Amino acid sequence: MADDRAAIGIFDSGVGGLTVFRQVAARLPGESIVYLGDTARVPYGTKSADTVVRYARACARILLKRNVKLLVVACNTASAFAVDVLRDELDVPVVDVVGPGARAAVARSRSGRIGVIGTAGTVASRAYDESIAALQPGATVTAQACPLFVPLAEEGWLEGTVPEAVAHHYLDSMRGTVDTLVLGCTHYPLLAAAIGAVMGPEVALVDSAEETARVTAETLAAIGAANAEAPPCYRFLVSDAPDAFVRVGQRFLGRPLAGVEWVDF
Ligand code: DGL
Repeated sequence: MADDRAAIGIFDSGVGGLTVFRQVAARLPGESIVYLGDTARVPYGTKSADTVVRYARACARILLKRNVKLLVVACNTASAFAVDVLRDELDVPVVDVVGPGARAAVARSRSGRIGVIGTAGTVASRAYDESIAALQPGATVTAQACPLFVPLAEEGWLEGTVPEAVAHHYLDSMRGTVDTLVLGCTHYPLLAAAIGAVMGPEVALVDSAEETARVTAETLAAIGAANAEAPPCYRFLVSDAPDAFVRVGQRFLGRPLAGVEWVDF
């Protein structure tokens, strides 16, 4: 049986996965978490599948050295390309964000016409298309890469003319064709207002982080490793200098970030 006092490990290419950290910490307030942002190698969304798998393996290795009891792959691109490899190779349960996001979308959609937005890598992988098709074979998926959303979110340009113009550019052709849109990238929940303004109020926006937190809780309970009691301890690790992670990460986390540690891969 896994050690219930061990921490949950969460990794992402950078700050984006803090949106997942936030949901996991809210859902499981007794759990300690070690978060790793691979800030030296971000972005993953423009890299090849082989490269992302190599990076994901390296992140998992760092977190396993910290004795984590479960690994959450918070990055959509890493989930899309590397989750099967990690599940095959690791001895701890691995929770991804694509499966939970797909499930949440299928549950929300009335028509089965589902949109997915993500990085170029996530869209090219067709991971969401395949997960949605496995859950609801008749569903139609329209996917669109929205690469400019990542720098907009990191710069804090979340609402107003510029993000809405960018959202129109990517999403106008999808408007009116889907009833549910998966925000299939860690950064996109921050732009939900601009995305929603373009898609219209009748389109449900799905943030996979909430569903991922639920799956994390269920998985821990299933392996008998849940820890509801202890005051949690949060650690943040980065592969590049911590300054930018601290500055940008506070916006993603919704609270101040302290004690960020550089780790050597
Ligand atoms: N975290 C990545 C994702 O969710 C977005 C940023 C990147 O490209 O690394 O796909």
